[in-house]
Amino acid sequence: MSETEALQARLVGDIEAAGDLDAIEALRVGALGKAGTVTGLLKTLGGMTPDERQVEGPKIHALRETVTAAIAARKAALEGAALEAKLAGEKLDMTLPATDAPKGSVHPVSQVMDELAEIFADMGFAVATGPEIEDDWRNFTALNIPETHPARAMHDTFYFPDKDAEGRAMLLRTHTSPVQIRTMMSQEPPIRIIAPGRVYRSDSDATHTPMFHQVEGLVIDRGIHMGHLKWTLETFLKAYFERDDIVLRLRPSYFPFTEPSAEVDVGYKQERGRRVVGGNGDDEGHAWMELLGSGMVNRRVIANCGLDPDVWQGFAFGVGVDRLAMLKYGMDDLRAFFDGDLRWLSHYGFGALSVPTLSGGISA
Ligand code: DAH
Repeated sequence: MSETEALQARLVGDIEAAGDLDAIEALRVGALGKAGTVTGLLKTLGGMTPDERQVEGPKIHALRETVTAAIAARKAALEGAALEAKLAGEKLDMTLPATDAPKGSVHPVSQVMDELAEIFADMGFAVATGPEIEDDWRNFTALNIPETHPARAMHDTFYFPDKDAEGRAMLLRTHTSPVQIRTMMSQEPPIRIIAPGRVYRSDSDATHTPMFHQVEGLVIDRGIHMGHLKWTLETFLKAYFERDDIVLRLRPSYFPFTEPSAEVDVGYKQERGRRVVGGNGDDEGHAWMELLGSGMVNRRVIANCGLDPDVWQGFAFGVGVDRLAMLKYGMDDLRAFFDGDLRWLSHYGFGALSVPTLSGGISA
């Protein structure tokens, strides 16, 4: 056996016997590294006569190829075995029952927003959204609340220190009404939307939190009048509270963005320390409670959005989502909505599968 053949037999034997990847690496360095045995043989080619090289060259190159291939094969085998061992140790039986009941729940605000979307979708309303960081033109000016208007001060607005590129003051929207502006400016009438979302005011007590939720409604079409508004609100509230004896009282009021404006009261009864919506507020044992703001969209607002108020009319309304949730599901402290207390969430939260549908029951 030649020296080359002997070296090959020894190296291949060692490689096949290598027990782990570290041993393989050591063998590779020992044979093919800078000072390796095979590398050493390759270097001897330089000192050979052309005739010797003709004979020895192919043998040494073949040796290098054999050793390289043996290393690759052993490495693949060791890695495969390691993977097999890992997989065997990580066995997971997907048919076993879950050891823990699901812990998460859907927040009542999310649930109520889903209920609203379902109810209004049935009446042909789409859901629209807008950013929580607004400019003062969309939040106030376009809604007919000019700079000097007392309503601006009443909103307890959070302003940002810097203005936007157009020089408009930036703020956290104080109501969802700017979505009316965004919708009218980007969409051709007829328009039927609701816009649920977060709003912000610098205000905090048992019934006010700096962030809360509203839903805005907007209809723009030809020949819209207050009868449409009243029917829509009545249909919505009957579906939401899941009772037919909802009685509304429209009280003349003032909002800069509607003319005429109406505050909407709903009849209720006090039962076991809780307000239960339903019945005529003037009936024995009943009273009225203010629930939402509404009105016919002010001609100026329609014109501000580039529409002709002689052609297009509409109504709008705005209502607190948290308030709706409290009334329907019986919570009495708004602050608890945003505490993130797991006991509260598991008590008042909803299962991920209780999706509100008109056919299956809105509160599932
Ligand atoms: N934007 C009003 C608020 O936050 C609520 C409101 C009142 C919205 C009347 C309306 C409306 O669309 O017509 O106090």
